[in-house]
Amino acid sequence: MQTNTDIYTPWGRTFEEYLGMFSLTDNDLSGKILGCSDGPSSFNSELTQRGGNVVSVDPLYQFSKEQIRKLIDQTYPEAMESFHRKKSLFIWKNLKSVHKLGRMRLSAMYEFLADLDWGKMEGRYIPGDLPIIPLVSDQFDLAVCSHYLFTSTTHMTSQFHINSIIEMARVAKEVRVFPLLENGAVLSRHVMPTISGLRDAGYRVRLEKVGYEFLPGGDRMLIVTDNV
Ligand SMILES: C[S@@+](CC[C@H](N)C(=O)[O-])C[C@H]1O[C@@H](n2cnc3c(N)ncnc32)[C@H](O)[C@@H]1O
Repeated sequence: MQTNTDIYTPWGRTFEEYLGMFSLTDNDLSGKILGCSDGPSSFNSELTQRGGNVVSVDPLYQFSKEQIRKLIDQTYPEAMESFHRKKSLFIWKNLKSVHKLGRMRLSAMYEFLADLDWGKMEGRYIPGDLPIIPLVSDQFDLAVCSHYLFTSTTHMTSQFHINSIIEMARVAKEVRVFPLLENGAVLSRHVMPTISGLRDAGYRVRLEKVGYEFLPGGDRMLIVTDNV
């Protein structure tokens, strides 16, 4: 695990966004869920408050609340400046402005921070790096991964994606990954090789449209289940 905070750019989405990105139903939410790469999103905190059963794994959780708060405060203005510059590249259907987007993401990250210490004590925030999940097999109904796999291509191979998804399938009955775009624009070069690799390894794989679309064309998730 990289222990230098400088390499992490914290950016967290809300529970509502997770519902849309992964088409989560009441039935899904009543099961045990693993959030891989949940970072400073408020998914874990909000689902726990609603009575859900969720564990998040992310290398960010090796850091203290104060270290993460500092990172958020440092990177937030840069992220906002970048959104203002690239505003025309996004779909502003639900989120009406860059300002509103910023307020929403910041409040999600502060919600996460408020929950972090208690959540760590309860074993809900676990430091870990894909392609390894430091948890025993077959304990989750669903594993989700938002905005990590497929989205940053520079340092990842297709084999890394295959290994990571097989690892998620080791601990959960079903895996969902969103989005499938690289650089926020085109279908990731790893999607087709990953699908082939997973099918060759005996997994059932399909793509499904979701209700969430902030990046044009970014409205599909990958769903993986065991063939048996
Ligand atoms: C863009 S953030 C997405 C956060 C959250 N899923 C969301 O959608 O709001 C990407 C996350 O991937 C995490 N990450 C980086 N390397 C990772 C790895 N090897 N395994 C799992 N997560 C990783 C980062 O720490 C960061 O929290």
